[in-house]
Amino acid sequence: MNRISLTQYLVEQQRERGRIPGQLRMLIEVVARACKRIAVSVNKGPLGDVIGTAHTENVQGEVQKKLDIISNEVLIQANEWGGHLAAMASEEMDSIHVVPNRYPQGEYLLLYDPLDGSSNIDVNVSIGTIFSVLRKVGHQRGIGEDDFLQPGRFQAAAGYCVYGPQSQLVLTVGDGVAVFTLDRELGSWMLTEQNLQIPADTKEFAVNMSNHRHWAPPVKRYIDECLAGSTGPRGKDFNMRWVGSMVADVHRILCRGGVFMYPWDAREPDKPGKLRLMYEANPMAFLVEQAGGAATNGRQRLMDLMPGKLHERVAVVLGSKNEVERITQYHQEAPAAEAGPAAR
Ligand code: AHG
Ligand code: MN
Ligand code: MN
Repeated sequence: MNRISLTQYLVEQQRERGRIPGQLRMLIEVVARACKRIAVSVNKGPLGDVIGTAHTENVQGEVQKKLDIISNEVLIQANEWGGHLAAMASEEMDSIHVVPNRYPQGEYLLLYDPLDGSSNIDVNVSIGTIFSVLRKVGHQRGIGEDDFLQPGRFQAAAGYCVYGPQSQLVLTVGDGVAVFTLDRELGSWMLTEQNLQIPADTKEFAVNMSNHRHWAPPVKRYIDECLAGSTGPRGKDFNMRWVGSMVADVHRILCRGGVFMYPWDAREPDKPGKLRLMYEANPMAFLVEQAGGAATNGRQRLMDLMPGKLHERVAVVLGSKNEVERITQYHQEAPAAEAGPAAR
């Protein structure tokens, strides 16, 4: 079969739909090349110096794995010289990284989780890189954290790379979702799927069940009904999957449907959820919506949330549209005191 490369896809998308201006095409190609480099490190495993912790902590208060830091460095070095972006923000960096004065600044802002699913690195389970692209507002050179605080609906592009049995890059620029598979012999990302569609209904949910006793009632209600299966109110049996890498769980849902939840729970009641809005929830929400799914925080569309802080966390419910709508409805039906933290 005559497949096309990522480069040809981007050039043709620009020619036919004018949605990938030069700097955005450059940004996507540079990030894709950086993900190839990360894939090489990931695939080395114990043969390279990439396993285990770096004995440092990030702004999230999490112990960093060596691969968290390696991946972050790869993305910074790949992106700072090209003149396609003005600044970057990363899960692994406290504040933004502005393109050094020795390089020209471009029109875009890049946000990323350089290595998602870090708890799976040492046990050889799929992990990934998640990225989100925003446009720089205004034209002055000075860039601050506030320039990044844009709702997810303003994203120019979003995607992830999943380092699994295949390395695959999944991308949207707002015209549907395309999948590229890494051809290791050519060293090229080759188009293998486009216009992914998530089925509106599903029989598969993804949640960390060990948190069940800490959930708010609407979440308990939804999951308990799924567990009741054909004998319960849903009248059908459900299956469960939980990889512990958002990238892997979301990729499965984009490919075959399902609903993913990381809801608020009472373990840390002041946190709305575990996942980060700007570089986990928003890029995944863009991809899921582009594939015909839905993505909320249990109440509101994720991509409508106005961020207050770069590293803020959010509850996440995403995937098959009809299931997400049901979960949102359960939150709306619950008395305010029972529905978890106040709506934003
Ligand atoms: P990260 O490794 O970037 O911190 O992200 C891990 C996230 C997400 O990938 C996954 O869905 C979730 O953490 C798993 O959380 P639990 O280990 O609490 O299930
Ligand atoms: Mn992550
Ligand atoms: Mn991470």
